[in-house]
Amino acid sequence: MSMIGARILAWYKSNGRLMLPWRVVRNPYATLVSEFMLQQTQVDRVTPKFDAFMKAYPDIFALARAGRGDIIRQWVGLGYNSRAVRLHAVAQRITSDFAGRIPEDEATLRSLPGIGPYTARAIMAFGYNHTVCATDTNIARIIHRLFFGLEIPPKVKWATVDARAQELVPSGKAHDFNGALMDFGSTICTARKPACKGCPLAGDCIAAPIDHGLLQEARKDIAGKNKPRIPFEQSARFARGRIVDRLRALPAGSSISLLDLQADIEPVLHPVLRGDILGIVEALQDDGLIRVDDRKTVALV
Ligand code: ADE
Repeated sequence: MSMIGARILAWYKSNGRLMLPWRVVRNPYATLVSEFMLQQTQVDRVTPKFDAFMKAYPDIFALARAGRGDIIRQWVGLGYNSRAVRLHAVAQRITSDFAGRIPEDEATLRSLPGIGPYTARAIMAFGYNHTVCATDTNIARIIHRLFFGLEIPPKVKWATVDARAQELVPSGKAHDFNGALMDFGSTICTARKPACKGCPLAGDCIAAPIDHGLLQEARKDIAGKNKPRIPFEQSARFARGRIVDRLRALPAGSSISLLDLQADIEPVLHPVLRGDILGIVEALQDDGLIRVDDRKTVALV
């Protein structure tokens, strides 16, 4: 094992979040569920939802059998409801095509809905302890700093960083190693204020010690190049979330007329979104989250 691998594992033993519920359980189904939840939601918000979800659907068969509307109701608080729809579709594919056994090779995992390169490797590493690195932007930042210097502007391509990350995974220790890098990235080697003082890898790191002032300036330059973004409250995603929340509040199995839904939703939307409600409802229907019947009543699927 490399020195860096050994140091980061030692750091993890005493500083890692070893008790996160999906790390304690250590099974591929728990990994699948937690990774879908963690794709766009912070750890602190996921933790209580994960426990409740696992109680409601303790295995992949229970999840595959469940109604989509029930799953979307369980997903409340996590946002990005289409992830719940994809997770359900994955569970159904795995029960129908793989007898309920979650695949453990990257190509098969990536053929499933909502599973990209990161999630495939996270399932391999956390669920099966296969020797791979689930490189995400946080892990890429650490590897870039260690081996190629400060990540802004990037000195090498993503593929180069990822290849270096794969080489670093100590054989048979993928579960802990990936968890260690994730925790290290959220506490020590953070995007904005890396704590190089006291970092156990500072002696191995090309970027250390990172000057905070320089880092802020570099980040500003990058941010200035991005187009101005619309505020979240004016985005279609905000409106989609409010519509799904409203439907989730209906008693299971009941629906609401499109006109009533519009009347309920309009007051909570920014004026720029008010003319778009029907289009947003249609998009939600196309994504399989909601159903609009011939009588123009709307419900969760
Ligand atoms: N542990 C396993 N997967 C994780 C993730 N995506 N974020 C944080 N901790 C994790």
